[in-house]
Amino acid sequence: MAEKGVPIKEPKGKLGILLPGLGAVGSTMIAGVEMVRNGYARPIGSLTQMATIRLGKRTEDRTPMIKDFVPLANLDDIVFGGWDIFPVNVYESALNAKVLTKDDLDKVKPQLDAIKPMKAVFDKKYVKRLDGPNKKVGKNKMDLAEQLMDDMANFKKENNLDRIVIVWSGSTETYIEYDPVWDTLESFEKAMRENHDAISSSMIYAYAALKSGIPYANGAPHMTHDIPALEELAKKNNVAIAGKDFKTGQTFMKTLLAPGLKARMLGVHGWFSTNILGNRDGEVLDEPLSFKSKEVTKLSALEYIFQPKKNPELYGDLYHKVRINYYPPIGDNKEAWDNIDIFGWLGYPMQIKVDFLCRDSILAAPVALDLALFIDLAQRAGMSGIQEWLSFYFKSPIVGKGLYPEHDIFIQLMKLKNTLRHLKGEDLITHLGLEYYD
Ligand SMILES: NC(=O)c1ccc[n+]([C@@H]2O[C@H](COP(=O)([O-])OP(=O)(O)OC[C@H]3O[C@@H](n4cnc5c(N)ncnc54)[C@H](O)[C@@H]3O)[C@@H](O)[C@H]2O)c1
Repeated sequence: MAEKGVPIKEPKGKLGILLPGLGAVGSTMIAGVEMVRNGYARPIGSLTQMATIRLGKRTEDRTPMIKDFVPLANLDDIVFGGWDIFPVNVYESALNAKVLTKDDLDKVKPQLDAIKPMKAVFDKKYVKRLDGPNKKVGKNKMDLAEQLMDDMANFKKENNLDRIVIVWSGSTETYIEYDPVWDTLESFEKAMRENHDAISSSMIYAYAALKSGIPYANGAPHMTHDIPALEELAKKNNVAIAGKDFKTGQTFMKTLLAPGLKARMLGVHGWFSTNILGNRDGEVLDEPLSFKSKEVTKLSALEYIFQPKKNPELYGDLYHKVRINYYPPIGDNKEAWDNIDIFGWLGYPMQIKVDFLCRDSILAAPVALDLALFIDLAQRAGMSGIQEWLSFYFKSPIVGKGLYPEHDIFIQLMKLKNTLRHLKGEDLITHLGLEYYD
């Protein structure tokens, strides 16, 4: 029997997608959507635009497109905006990022020229390798948050929007240790007024968004809304949140391969991962404290997939190392190597070598788009707080207290699709399938 489904508000009117950080990922996502909606390209890599979903039994042959099955905002109804410390418009920013060709960008130049970054909330303390002139000044962090809330409200009004979502596509901030001011909303707000160091720029954006009832997804690895105070605010204001760190190049590969090895009970002695990349993200990650934020999210996937405590003979001694090196000549075209030392029957060793010559922002752009559209869906469906079903898109999924994150990409996909089926009152798919043989 199908469940009844969840009431979902129709996506009427326009959806604003605001991006703190209009760099490589942000500009590639915006330019891509403009190219797609003007008929120049296909939205490859985006589930919301290209994937189907099977409904009912295998014999029923019901597999609509996801976008026809659940009420998602249409690409034509999206208005983009954002903040950046560099005051250049999105056309200029995309040219600087060198991800898309000038030929492609010129096809949608007027639309990209029109998107100019608002003044950012930025403190070099949290991104040591960067600085730029387009910044807000305020008497304290609460004042800065209020200025961001004004930006959000004005953007909505000026563009006649029905609703807004925010996806952080700004630089990775430094790793910060737990601080008791994160524990409650009250202590957090007090700390904002006192300009406490444990409150990073991205936390100010997240606070402003949640205060304004705007869903927020974090594409970077640093701590933002995955602290008790902001989770409390999300719950209190019934706002959807998701994070963190877009799952794109190497970790995407890891979460494809590792579940396969584990499924066949093949052991792993060592997994050495190294990356070279030459974009601004690479430059920021070259700084040890920003790398530390990334290292934490990159390392966690294997730990959770292999469960070494439950499988000590296979994964108990796993040596896992991740390196990122800034190498300017290759720009956004990252090279990610993995050397994997595995062992099989009777302990005999084997090796797997992966050399992924990827384009970071080409992989990240559809992820950012899907997250914006799905978190808007979640909000309209009344789903507030952590959206674990969006783990599919993240290197380090945030989950409810007491839960461990699910990293296996196929389980994540099943969870995502089953959530959509649940929302629409369709039977969940368990893949049991005994009924076909009755
Ligand atoms: N490209 C990928 O595949 C990928 C994958 C996972 C995560 N990420 C994360 O996504 C983020 C963006 O990556 P990118 O390649 O676009 O980097 P980028 O350096 O090209 O762009 C980041 C932009 O954010 C701006 N910025 C920094 N702090 C800001 C602030 N406080 N407010 C407003 N703007 C700010 C910078 O000026 C820059 O223009 C990074 O955190 C990166 O680690 C990227």
